[in-house]
Amino acid sequence: MRLADIGLTAQDIKDKVNKYMIETYERFDFLAETAKDMYIYDENGTPYLDFYAGIAVNAAGSCNDKVVAAVKDQVGDIMHTFNYPYTIPQALLAEKVCTTIGMAKIFYQNSGTEANEAMIKMARKYGVEKYGPHKYNIVTAAMSFHGRTFGAMSATGQPDNACQIGFGDMTPGFSYADFNDLQSFKDACTDNTIAIMIEPVQGEGGVHPATQEFMQGLRDYCDEKGMLLLLDEVQTGWCRTGAVMSYMNYGIKPDIVSMAKALGGGMPIGAICATEEVAKSFSAGSHGTTFGGHPVSCAAALAEVNELMDRDLAGNAKKMGAYFMELLKKLPHVREVRGQGLLVGVEFDDTIGGVDVKHECLHRHLLITAIGAHIIRMVPPLILTEEDCDRAFAIIKESVEALA
Ligand SMILES: Cc1ncc(COP(=O)(O)O)c(C=O)c1O
Repeated sequence: MRLADIGLTAQDIKDKVNKYMIETYERFDFLAETAKDMYIYDENGTPYLDFYAGIAVNAAGSCNDKVVAAVKDQVGDIMHTFNYPYTIPQALLAEKVCTTIGMAKIFYQNSGTEANEAMIKMARKYGVEKYGPHKYNIVTAAMSFHGRTFGAMSATGQPDNACQIGFGDMTPGFSYADFNDLQSFKDACTDNTIAIMIEPVQGEGGVHPATQEFMQGLRDYCDEKGMLLLLDEVQTGWCRTGAVMSYMNYGIKPDIVSMAKALGGGMPIGAICATEEVAKSFSAGSHGTTFGGHPVSCAAALAEVNELMDRDLAGNAKKMGAYFMELLKKLPHVREVRGQGLLVGVEFDDTIGGVDVKHECLHRHLLITAIGAHIIRMVPPLILTEEDCDRAFAIIKESVEALA
């Protein structure tokens, strides 16, 4: 839909949103009318350099030609059915995902939080069935983020965050330990613990990658205790971190991994992949969804995954991530630059507010996000070039200088 075709102005659209929508978002004050590759365009055709990618979604670029073609193709064949007949896109995507990431089985959902619900449910069912009714506790990390439905919210180790405040008690069955502290996780596990669940890189928690020692230590500890290692790769999955899945950077494998965001190339989809043994915990009736595995989302995801793999966008994420992080270290007032591939965070000293940098960048038509008081986070499409990095760096530098 374009304004010119419906006879409305950008202000008309903003007024309608403000009047009729329940707002939980701090809106950027511009209208995103179209998008292509690294850019979003407003109603005047003004380009915004997109280092947000719909929050780590449009990995092969916005409106990637092959993804768009796959969606158009599938929409005309079968748009939605229920999950009883076999469908072609589900089958082809299942094979592609499982063989690409070396997991046995997939279950489709619609979003990251739902994928995490499925991962939590599968782990709990595995524990209760294998060891008895007490065995369903999961230890997660402080400052983690796993989503906004109740299980995922409860797994999220941020009791002081707006996403948990005011909703009453969280779901029982979770305890929390310090990220990158193996002993803290060991101490938090009891006889009731069936799994440890972490993000390989804490994104919302401030862009903190797991150390090799921590990740390998968790894998070994889970094996020793007969527990499961659950990885939330909703943000890190599908090439963002310089490997297809972030766990490949560590040379380990999870028992269950959740994914969403980049998988759909802009269409909503989430999924979990599990080992053969753990996947058996789900059987007819134990879990389900109306829309999960939607034919159009699966067709889009298949096209997106093919693009990511055929163009080696994990390789580009690794190369460009290293290039961009070196540039960012030259910014004034930087305390630390950290990340993995193209999941990049910059922590400034106490004089520079992350939200202020975000707004200054927005004025200069660069889209980035802020976390906490002094951190900015960038998750651009993985197709980006050195020139895109140079442009973004110049804008961020100008923005920080304007604030200093
Ligand atoms: C690590 C992680 N898990 C889960 C989610 C929730 O995903 P969704 O917003 O698709 O429900 C997010 C979203 O940012 C995320 O970063």
